[in-house]
Amino acid sequence: MELPFAESYKIKMIESIRKSTREEREEWIAAAKYNLFNLRSDQVFIDLLTDSGTGAMSDKQWAEMMLGDESYAGASSFFKMKNAIKNILGFDHFLPTHQGRAAENVLFSAMVKTGDLVPGNTHFDTTKGHIEFRKATAVDCTINEAFDPSIIHPFKGNIDLQKLETVLSNNASERIPVIIVTITCNSSGGQPVSMQNLKEVYKLASQYKIPVFFDSARFAENAYFIKTREKGYADKSIKQIVKEMFSYADGMTMSSKKDAIVNMGGFVAFKDVELYKKASVYNIMFEGYLTYGGMSGRDMNALAQGLDEGTEFAYLETRIGQVAYLGQKLLDHGVPVLVPFGGHAIFIDAKKFLSNIPREEYIAQSLAVEIYIEGGVRAVEIGTIMADRDPITRENRYPELELIRLALPRRVYTNNHMDYVAATIINVFERRNQIKRGYKIVSEAPILRHFTVELEKI
Ligand code: F0G
Repeated sequence: MELPFAESYKIKMIESIRKSTREEREEWIAAAKYNLFNLRSDQVFIDLLTDSGTGAMSDKQWAEMMLGDESYAGASSFFKMKNAIKNILGFDHFLPTHQGRAAENVLFSAMVKTGDLVPGNTHFDTTKGHIEFRKATAVDCTINEAFDPSIIHPFKGNIDLQKLETVLSNNASERIPVIIVTITCNSSGGQPVSMQNLKEVYKLASQYKIPVFFDSARFAENAYFIKTREKGYADKSIKQIVKEMFSYADGMTMSSKKDAIVNMGGFVAFKDVELYKKASVYNIMFEGYLTYGGMSGRDMNALAQGLDEGTEFAYLETRIGQVAYLGQKLLDHGVPVLVPFGGHAIFIDAKKFLSNIPREEYIAQSLAVEIYIEGGVRAVEIGTIMADRDPITRENRYPELELIRLALPRRVYTNNHMDYVAATIINVFERRNQIKRGYKIVSEAPILRHFTVELEKI
């Protein structure tokens, strides 16, 4: 008999979770104004809101926590993190920040100004938020295949070089301070970018003398897909692939809450010392002194250890395998999910799932609410609400895709939990034709509204 797949770790500590009743959930979600961010975590049975900061640290990471050096300046923990960044990612200079968006804030403070263009593959919402906050524009140059959830393409996160070249050649390079490549591309479904594409983007950018930064939250998952899908990489280790990926970048922003498997933390890394120095000023102003910048010593230690564990093949195979396990269950029951499956999450095509609801009534949000009521599973909307309003016209922006995301925390749930999640969603799918109306907004913030929006049932 062929030996079946099994997780590359065992469980040392557990946390209890409680199933609620449908009546309780109906009451709680109404009180939460139909915004799943407003729920208390104990009102949720299986929490797939995000894979960010929700992972389980290893015994070695917890051991590192005890060794943290909390000195204000020159802490040994800073140097541990510096070594890990140099050895695993290849960058000489870095600034610790409290999380990924803080890294974006520091970097963009040094680089982006009013009227600029920042091309890339679909920018994550905080990235876009930081660009638009500076009255600059994020230009989406993702390949067209990414916008069709049913097209099979191994690297749907790729940048369309033609689209990028059009932006670069039609605008003065002073107006384009940086190109941001997000690996994997969260907003288009956790889809990877191929090594060849990274290489070509870097080459094109170099011709125009424009720096390339990777938004690297899920860089290790990207490397896993390169290893398993791209010709010539099957026999390379994840760490070798990671090194090559970052050789095609001038720097990176990192939300360490993802692939460095810590609960809080981030950084910006640079090749160029001058840019590092320029950004340092903002780091001190917004985050903290250069050798801690928004992180405690113990967290820097855990992060250094996490970077090492997060770039091991056995771990990535377990993680990405679990995402695919859930995706396949849904697919087998006819649920419209985005293919190929992403690295960190399964995305459901809400337009196909709930075809009766008009887009003005927030299709994806309606689906996320139904799934919560059905089984206490919390997902997140990646649709019209997250897309925010156009900064100039203030009209709703209707994205091509209305998705909900089921993001899997790292090393947290078992496949029995995945079976429960699949059954919850399949139950909603079976009664989908009875769901005909959605929601209207009663209150919203001017930017990044999805976190605090309040809704009313129509
Ligand atoms: N870039 C990407 C690709 C992200 O997915 C995120 C966060 C960030 C930057 C910002 O990092 O949260 O540490 O400030 N994504 C989370 C998510 C919130 O749920 O996908 P952060």
